[in-house]
Amino acid sequence: MATSSWENRFGTKKLVLSEPEFTILRDLIHERLGSFYQNSKRELLEDKLSSLVSERGFDSFLDYYYLLKYDSAEAESEWLQVMNALRVPETFFWREIDQIQALVKILVPDYFASKPQQPLRIWSAACSSGEEPLSIVMALTETGWLERVPIEIMASDMSELAVNRARQGLYRHYSLRNLPEELRVKYFQPEQDKWRIRPELITQVKWHTANLISRTEITPFAAASVIFCRNVFIYFSEEMIRKTVRRFFELMPTRAYLFVGASESLLKITTDFDLQEIGSAFVYVKGNSVVQKGTTYF
Ligand SMILES: C[S@@+](CC[C@H](N)C(=O)[O-])C[C@H]1O[C@@H](n2cnc3c(N)ncnc32)[C@H](O)[C@@H]1O
Repeated sequence: MATSSWENRFGTKKLVLSEPEFTILRDLIHERLGSFYQNSKRELLEDKLSSLVSERGFDSFLDYYYLLKYDSAEAESEWLQVMNALRVPETFFWREIDQIQALVKILVPDYFASKPQQPLRIWSAACSSGEEPLSIVMALTETGWLERVPIEIMASDMSELAVNRARQGLYRHYSLRNLPEELRVKYFQPEQDKWRIRPELITQVKWHTANLISRTEITPFAAASVIFCRNVFIYFSEEMIRKTVRRFFELMPTRAYLFVGASESLLKITTDFDLQEIGSAFVYVKGNSVVQKGTTYF
């Protein structure tokens, strides 16, 4: 294979991800994590992984590939580092809020009208540093639902680093850019140059790590009536989206709702769910047919 590192004019070694190395590493990452790096993303992958390769004492991506490829305890723990390195941390409070409003104002009241005693499970399946599930908690708190009915909110991400950030609850101002000021005042305290969210919001959520590609890892969460899996399929191949959505479909209850990001249409990829407009949001519905106005969503 082509050379894997070169020395720049300061005498520092820079690792180079050659084309053949890129191809095998890209395919391995795709199979394991679902994300597919196009050829144009070779340098991005090189940047994201080169420090891990150096920390391992390797001077080529090929050695690193072999470490990840062959099952061993060492490979498993290295994948945790890869998941941290490849996470895309872009998220913010009150993102695509119409979907959360559809949940809080329409689906939640409807669910408890049909199943007053049965807890409602909501899963934020790629929660990053927690802004999405914590926005759900805020919206449910604002409407008083959390005090009145049993709602279980679970959140997970493949990146342990991201989930630990969520558990800490300390956010840069940029994460709050979309949040109405009255909610910032109510739920956050300034701390140095950041904002700390009220701890009782964090404890409303059960935080976990889970890789969406692993059936075993998602099984404890996917039996939820509502799944938010937003802004992660944009990185997946169609094949992996189809596989993941099929697993959701198999594991979710008979009537259930899947929210994906506004830019992530499933229509050409799978027909497992029906698309329906609920309130001002589009939602994928599991059930025999689209629910007619005036009938129950559950
Ligand atoms: C752009 S963030 C989206 C966060 C949030 N859902 C939102 O819409 O604001 C994408 C998240 O997906 C996570 N992710 C990527 N591949 C994943 C996988 N296979 N399993 C679980 N999480 C994954 C990343 O770690 C990252 O935190």
